[in-house]
Amino acid sequence: FNKIGIIGAMREEVEGLVSKIENRGFKKVAGLDFYFGDICGKYVVVVECGIAKVNAALCTQILISEFGVDAVINTGVAGGLRGGIMINDVVISTDAIEYDVDASAMGDPKGTIPRLKTSVFIANSALIDSAYKAFDNVKDGNNCFKGRVVTGDKFVADNGEKTVLREEFGGYCCEMEGGAIAHVAYLNEIPFVIIRAISDNADSSADVKYEEFVKKAALTSKNMVINMLSHL
Ligand code: ADE
Repeated sequence: FNKIGIIGAMREEVEGLVSKIENRGFKKVAGLDFYFGDICGKYVVVVECGIAKVNAALCTQILISEFGVDAVINTGVAGGLRGGIMINDVVISTDAIEYDVDASAMGDPKGTIPRLKTSVFIANSALIDSAYKAFDNVKDGNNCFKGRVVTGDKFVADNGEKTVLREEFGGYCCEMEGGAIAHVAYLNEIPFVIIRAISDNADSSADVKYEEFVKKAALTSKNMVINMLSHL
């Protein structure tokens, strides 16, 4: 990979990356701040896309069309959906879906985008392997999982909804951007991976846990990305 786009939804998720860029340049497009230069000898473009799917999709397309990135990494936090996945653990995407697409009234299963060849966007295996290796160098009593990231325009804070995302959609973690980034990467035939550290468990205590752990989880994910860049 020669030019890697790195997307975080929120300031907490990208600030530690922007400050690491050497020979840093800057350009504003569509109200978004794109910072480019070198991290660990790799040329990167780092951007805070804003929360939820439309912001993430728009930002990904700009990274590809305007900045010419040839790979996309999404870093950030997520809600954990499985018993063994604890706060500050990491999920590396094997694939991603947009679970809130629902044309079931027309006969398509929930989470399926009508007339698109696939609604399951497969992450790049070299990027997955690299992220998994990076975890070994930054782990601190936490665990790392490879699994499906499920994305929707909703902060999930409900046990019932959490169960649906796990049982019906096969999710390991839920968040609000990864599936949209994956979708745009797929349409452009650009490799991607999503790295998410767990800030909460997407249950009735999610709002409180999120506030407490979002900073730490964002840092965990950022550290993985930096370590990954030094080996890519
Ligand atoms: N990001 C972090 N926690 C989340 C949750 N519970 N739902 C959606 N996005 C999240």
